[in-house]
Amino acid sequence: MTEKPKIYVTRRVPSPGIELLETECKLTFWDSDDAIPREELLKNITGGYDALFCMLTDIIDKEVLEAAGSTLKVVATMSVGYEHIDLDECRRRDIVVANTPNVSTDSVAELTVSLLLLTSRRLLEGIQAVKSGEWGPWKPMWLCGTEMTNKTIGIYGLGRIGYGVARRLKPFGGKKIIYNDVVKVSYADDIGAEYVSFETLLEEADCICICCNLTPQTKHKFNAAAFKKMKQTAILVNSGRGGVIQHDDLYDALVNKDITAAGLDVTEPEPLPSNHKLVSLNNCIILPHMGSNTWESRNSMSLTTAKNILSVFHKEKVFGEVSNK
Ligand code: DGY
Repeated sequence: MTEKPKIYVTRRVPSPGIELLETECKLTFWDSDDAIPREELLKNITGGYDALFCMLTDIIDKEVLEAAGSTLKVVATMSVGYEHIDLDECRRRDIVVANTPNVSTDSVAELTVSLLLLTSRRLLEGIQAVKSGEWGPWKPMWLCGTEMTNKTIGIYGLGRIGYGVARRLKPFGGKKIIYNDVVKVSYADDIGAEYVSFETLLEEADCICICCNLTPQTKHKFNAAAFKKMKQTAILVNSGRGGVIQHDDLYDALVNKDITAAGLDVTEPEPLPSNHKLVSLNNCIILPHMGSNTWESRNSMSLTTAKNILSVFHKEKVFGEVSNK
């Protein structure tokens, strides 16, 4: 009898993927809701595993791959982002790398729109005012925000999530939707989104939703120079990756009123320390990276990660393969 393939899972994860894998593989877990410490990963991965089921918090670099040794055939991350994995090193070792595209699109798009409205309508300040007793008689100019109606909606990165955000915002009756990405995309026509240069996006958008991956090209793209070009009334929302924004520059821009407000679901670093200067600002709403936090999304992410692993074992096409890009 041939031995079952061995999989190392770096966290407790939703059951759908685990139940599927258990039908034909032997699983070992880091049995915790918290990230595996690096030294534990380096130690535990040496057990001759065929697959690594990992999270975006696990840095999978040469050292980890070296420790895993030549049995490792696939690194499957339960995330869309895969910037934590050294793709070149995996390719050199013939290790397939796969992510979970598409299955969290709706969840992240819904969160992005929620965060935009939360920020533009100053809802958190309103909730705090009720709780603290600051809410007094009605005042004509208290806690006034910005509407989306008749505004220019900007999207930076019109991939699946950016498209999902734009599609959800379209019924708000904005003047137009503009986007910038590395290339024009044909599906932008479905929602009447117009491709513009990065400069035009900054200058014309009343709100900008950042929905892109972190790459060398997008790293700190939103910096002091960019904020100076944006409208002073603009709202900036980031549900892509924290590193797309230069956070010290964002702080200055918010304090100096170069832009009106920011809503961040992703930060640099994560977690952002509670004493970070951005946390102290009323015009900066920060969430703890909750884009894909729905049961629908997390169950699908777990299942997709499992299917990616099995596809490698079965020598089938791998749905989320990124090592071939
Ligand atoms: C992803 O899948 O990359 C998300 O950021 C996790 O929520």
